[in-house]
Amino acid sequence: MPVDLSGPLMAAFRRAKREFEEAVKKGDKETARKKALECARILKQLSKYDDFNRESYLQKARKWERIAGDIEAGRYGAGRKAKAKPLHENTRENEEEDSFKRQAEGLITGSKVRWGDIGGLDEVKALLMETVVIAALQRPESIQPWKGILLFGPPGTGKTLLASAAAGSLNATFFNVKASNVLSKYFGESTKIISALYEVAREKAPSIVFLDEVDALTTKRSGEQSEASRRMLSTLLTELDGFQDKGSDLMVLTLAATNMPWDLDEAVLSRFPRRIYVPLPDRKATKEIIRINTRGLDISRLDLDAIAEESVRRLYSGRDLKNLCQGAIWNMIREENPDLHKLAELPYEKLRKRSLRTRPLEMRDFEEAFKKIKSPLTRKDIERYEKWAEEFGG
Ligand SMILES: Nc1ncnc2c1ncn2[C@@H]1O[C@H](COP(=O)(O)OP(=O)(O)OP(=O)(O)O)[C@@H](O)[C@H]1O
Ligand SMILES: [Mg+2]
Repeated sequence: MPVDLSGPLMAAFRRAKREFEEAVKKGDKETARKKALECARILKQLSKYDDFNRESYLQKARKWERIAGDIEAGRYGAGRKAKAKPLHENTRENEEEDSFKRQAEGLITGSKVRWGDIGGLDEVKALLMETVVIAALQRPESIQPWKGILLFGPPGTGKTLLASAAAGSLNATFFNVKASNVLSKYFGESTKIISALYEVAREKAPSIVFLDEVDALTTKRSGEQSEASRRMLSTLLTELDGFQDKGSDLMVLTLAATNMPWDLDEAVLSRFPRRIYVPLPDRKATKEIIRINTRGLDISRLDLDAIAEESVRRLYSGRDLKNLCQGAIWNMIREENPDLHKLAELPYEKLRKRSLRTRPLEMRDFEEAFKKIKSPLTRKDIERYEKWAEEFGG
């Protein structure tokens, strides 16, 4: 087994490609030709380290050799846009690449979430804020922000929310990628979408790639998707390594999330040296989450401590708390507006003129709501997370 050099090679490829594009822009044909050959050489080397993508690397290498040949023959229009294609080349390959890039762009989502929308999780928030700030600041080359952070913890504890807040605060391009979706939607082509995704992420930096359910990519589990997910994983790992490129100041942060950290294999874990436990909210965090989810309503009559105690005892997650608040609010609304359902007969215009009656939230609203919300978790589940956190977290 040769030493895996794909990370540094990927970085070298990117550098060569950049230099090629600059040379083309300047009209420096000789440098452009040399750089195109360098790109081809590096891609050939890369093909040796990555069985899954061997053909695709070799195909790209041939493309670069053709470009070099075209430049030499004067067929390649130097001075054109760097992306310009040799005239005679069949552009199907490029069209395909573009189509994947467009699909990757489809994964971009807006994020309006702010740090203030997240209750508790102070340490996690601080770490993410620091990472995001370091990435944005001018800094010596030796100081690098984290490129990959793994968030793990029980369902509904705010992992997605944290990633959205990081993106929202930075005004970064936010790619929301669910591993299982990519696999089922693109199956055999999931590697292409991943490559395209990171290419677009670099173009639109600063970017945050949020990779939800990374555990779906693990090689530990078997099943019919395992071949496709192994390919996708392998591409992903290569992309992640590519970002170890020190000279690059493009900020592309990959945040990965999982509910099943114990399913992750070594290859994934090693790319995410920072692994952050996102636990169930404690009492203080619970109270914050309740405040966030009852904004605009009068909660002065509530005994928040009592609600928090009961919620913690019931192992409620942030999601459960949100549902609890929704339930309580609905109880209040129904009580204050008993004929609400009758209004459904009214035309929209008339409805618009009416307003809801509200009153301060009462403990009884919450007591009713508690009955309907049950956490799927057991003490044992939590212990499992805690144990994993102790062993692998940090
Ligand atoms: N710490 C929190 N502060 C405020 N709201 C929270 C918090 N955690 C969860 N919520 C609420 O629960 C919802 C679900 O949270 P989120 O989607 O971030 O959970 P998750 O950890 O990504 O869950 P899953 O593992 O199931 O994907 C949020 O939209 C938010 O309304
Ligand atoms: Mg989530």
